[in-house]
Amino acid sequence: MTRKPLFLLAALGLLVAASFPAWSADDIQPPNEYRHWFHVNTMIIDKASPLFKDLGGMHNVYVNATGEEALKKGNAYPDGAMFVTDLHDFTVSDGSYVEGDRKGLAVMVKDAAKYGATGGWGFQFFLGGDPKKPVVTDAATQCFACHTPRKDHDYIFSSYIP
Ligand code: HEC
Repeated sequence: MTRKPLFLLAALGLLVAASFPAWSADDIQPPNEYRHWFHVNTMIIDKASPLFKDLGGMHNVYVNATGEEALKKGNAYPDGAMFVTDLHDFTVSDGSYVEGDRKGLAVMVKDAAKYGATGGWGFQFFLGGDPKKPVVTDAATQCFACHTPRKDHDYIFSSYIP
């Protein structure tokens, strides 16, 4: 890459900001085929939960083939393992929780060296599942901080339900 004068970089504020984190938001893309992956579980966070404001919705969790065995055996995850939470709205009708529109896709991808600062996992969240709408700019505070209590499970909350 050719070196650009500083003022030009300053004008491209976004570019500059994006060059500071250890990894950039465009590193991670939402995988297309995740609905064919292993379905780990579904969890509903409703109004009664203190997490509702941040995580409310129907969480459909999937793991790719690379991570499936580690999930089932309870091992640490190999590089390339990927989890997706397909987060949907829901309505409650006569006690039935009915899945609604997609709110977003939360993605975790394992690369121990690349994402060493966040437990070996890269994090991204795509609004509405749109690849053009990533929202995570600081994975350490926006995502990883809340996953750290799960260190003993390689930072993954979901466990295998046979
Ligand atoms: C307030 C705490 C909290 C924050 C912040 C948080 N998570 Fe999670 N995450 C959870 C919990 C609890 C689960 C398990 C429930 C579920 O299935 O979603 C989870 C599950 C996941 C999963 C499925 C794998 C697993 O661990 O079970 C992914 C992928 C994920 N989160 C990505 C993210 C991303 C990306 C961000 C940042 C945008 C983020 N999380 C921020 C608490 C959090």
